[in-house]
Amino acid sequence: MAQLIYNSLDSSVHPSKLYPDYKSTILRAPSQPMIVLPQGLSEMNGPVFGDYSLGAFDHDLTKNAVVNGDPLGERIVVHGKVLNENGQPIPNTLVEIWQANAAGRYVHKVDKHEAPLDPNFLGTGRCRTDKEGYYCFYTIKPGAYPWGNHFNAWRPNHIHFSLFGPNITTRLVTQMYFPGDPLLQYDPIFQSVPEKGRPLVISSFDLDRTEPDFALAYRFDIILRGPSTTPFEKL
Ligand SMILES: [Fe+2]
Repeated sequence: MAQLIYNSLDSSVHPSKLYPDYKSTILRAPSQPMIVLPQGLSEMNGPVFGDYSLGAFDHDLTKNAVVNGDPLGERIVVHGKVLNENGQPIPNTLVEIWQANAAGRYVHKVDKHEAPLDPNFLGTGRCRTDKEGYYCFYTIKPGAYPWGNHFNAWRPNHIHFSLFGPNITTRLVTQMYFPGDPLLQYDPIFQSVPEKGRPLVISSFDLDRTEPDFALAYRFDIILRGPSTTPFEKL
């Protein structure tokens, strides 16, 4: 029986490492052809993520950094499943997110955007997928922010995602966007994703998961490989 082999470096799915409109790729993209290293002992005996315990509010960014009140902005639920190419769930995946606050400001020393920090919002969270591959975060809808890529450059609203499988060599990184964002067409980072992959990094509004009188919900399933794989910026 023939074995299907998916190329994790498939440039028809994942963003190119060199995308000149995204200027920092010019400096960091490899200038030589990539070498695929064979997997070895380091994948087998490297650091692993086991049954460590997560904090009770690690998945709830509206609570995990509270100092003196609720964070400002629009509360949202961001949830979905991590799946393989056959739609089967991937349990025990560590899902980490980081994002700007509602005003479009990160808690980071190099973020000089003249927008307020929120003393009650750190913008980071993590959870682990359950046996159904399901994850769920509560957070604040991130604001757009300017960046220095070109004149009047603004990032669309987005949340950064990192996934760790069973060990530290199995990390995948991507970004989740919001439906209908007018900035998507102007954003070189989003546009660096090949056209057929762009819908796969845009979440869908999920009325069924919305919590009445509390929060809207967005669904973002992450598919690890195959023809519908989620585009990843770091593989
Ligand atoms: Fe960002």
